[in-house]
Amino acid sequence: MVIVVFIVVVSIWYVLQKEDPKQIEETTEASQASYDETWRPQFHYTPAKNWMNDPNGMVYYKGKYHLFYQHNPKGDQFGNMSWGHAVSEDLIHWKELDVAMEPDENGMIFSGSVVVDEDNTSGLFQGDEGGLIAYYTSAGDVQDQRLAYSTDEGKTWTKYEGNPIVPNPGIKDFRDPVVMWHEDSEKWIMLLVAGDKVMFYGSDNMVDWSYLSEFGSDHGAHGGVWETPELFELPVDGNQDQKKWVLQVDMNPGSIAGGSGGQYFIGDFDGKEFKLDRGQTETKWTDYGKDFYATQAFNNMDKVIWIAWMSNWQYAADIPTSPWRGAMSLPREVSLTTNDRGEMLLTQQPVKELDDLRGEKLIEMENRTLDGSMSLPEFDERTYEIVATFRVDEADEFGFKVAQGEGEETIVGYDDQNNYLFTDRNNSGVTDFHPEFGGVFRAPMEAMDGYTIKLHIYVDESSVEVFGNNGQKVLTNQIFPSEGSDDLSIYSYGGNVTIESLEVYDLESMHE
Ligand code: FRU
Repeated sequence: MVIVVFIVVVSIWYVLQKEDPKQIEETTEASQASYDETWRPQFHYTPAKNWMNDPNGMVYYKGKYHLFYQHNPKGDQFGNMSWGHAVSEDLIHWKELDVAMEPDENGMIFSGSVVVDEDNTSGLFQGDEGGLIAYYTSAGDVQDQRLAYSTDEGKTWTKYEGNPIVPNPGIKDFRDPVVMWHEDSEKWIMLLVAGDKVMFYGSDNMVDWSYLSEFGSDHGAHGGVWETPELFELPVDGNQDQKKWVLQVDMNPGSIAGGSGGQYFIGDFDGKEFKLDRGQTETKWTDYGKDFYATQAFNNMDKVIWIAWMSNWQYAADIPTSPWRGAMSLPREVSLTTNDRGEMLLTQQPVKELDDLRGEKLIEMENRTLDGSMSLPEFDERTYEIVATFRVDEADEFGFKVAQGEGEETIVGYDDQNNYLFTDRNNSGVTDFHPEFGGVFRAPMEAMDGYTIKLHIYVDESSVEVFGNNGQKVLTNQIFPSEGSDDLSIYSYGGNVTIESLEVYDLESMHE
């Protein structure tokens, strides 16, 4: 008997210690992607391998930006949802770290947020050292909100013994807690989604939460379930004396370009309730492309910088990349501005730090009249940035054909007859992996001052992000062009357009 027990114990020990080196090998491999695989984004974050969706727990802490994310460390499909983890010092160069949180006996670890508990308000830390607190949804038989804390900058987490901190009140889709400090009411606020509305909770100690209010059943678009909310305050047109609150909510399906996408509301938040501004009846869409979902902004910053998952639930499982599946958008600074017609809009601009990736200036033009098509024969690039200002003239339509090759192009244009900015990815390369992937996606947009159209475009190996008129309208789309599709041309249909200025920069890889 004793011998049998001894043999069993020794075998278990043998198996366990044998698995250890494999684990280490996997982790090192995970942080060393080659970045020369087909369609590997060169300046958008991707995990070295396996599945990724929403950004989670974005926080600026001790000089580093932390990006946690929904991740399946075991495969390239949705499943085993864990929190992956990456850090950056400049928002551009990211380093993948070990997986931070993995599923436990209560379920998978769904989306959530991280805040800094500087003064140990929660009492979860030793002395008054403080640390990080993660709020996440535990997705088991029911969804509820839980808390974990970390004293090693988010590398490892201890789950709180008193979990769940917000039990499920009998609502099927009850998830994605976002926690923030509300200065005026001196309270911690949690918002989460419940079916097709947002629920607000308040806390003094970050651990005990009480229900405050809810918003949304009667407002906005309701074609699908609401997910991943976000709330922040911003000055209007940079005026610190006139601030407004923005509530961003994602929805799947039923969004503007089909499938999953985001909408936002402008109003006021008094620490208890979100009140929508009067007169906001039309849905305000965050991005008019198909691939911008589950946005989250960094906590602990004096500006709003957010990142989204650059995919769509319609086809996320089918996109043809390997060994990873899922990419993040560029980080964008978000502002509130008033347009020519007096409408208040959320504008998104790529963060300034991206300029550091600029390599050679490939094209420079000023005051050129274009009638027809102009291809740029020397051009063979897969990763670049276009900064262009057009003056609309007689042309019905004008713009760029990017990632162009044999029978392939992605068109980024402005239709001056119907006043919209669009991306057409019908012939962008591999599109047949899903019937909903191809298409033309349109954002209504007027010329500025009646005649100016500005286009700021980032082309990466498998995405095109378009910022129109200083980020007033944005289109984010994935593309999967063939290897040789690296040409660029400028076009106008139906008459002249003036290129007031054009600059095209080669963009370096964040891994060089
Ligand atoms: C949004 C979402 C969240 C959920 C997570 C699961 O894309 O569905 O609502 O927490 O993804 O991975």
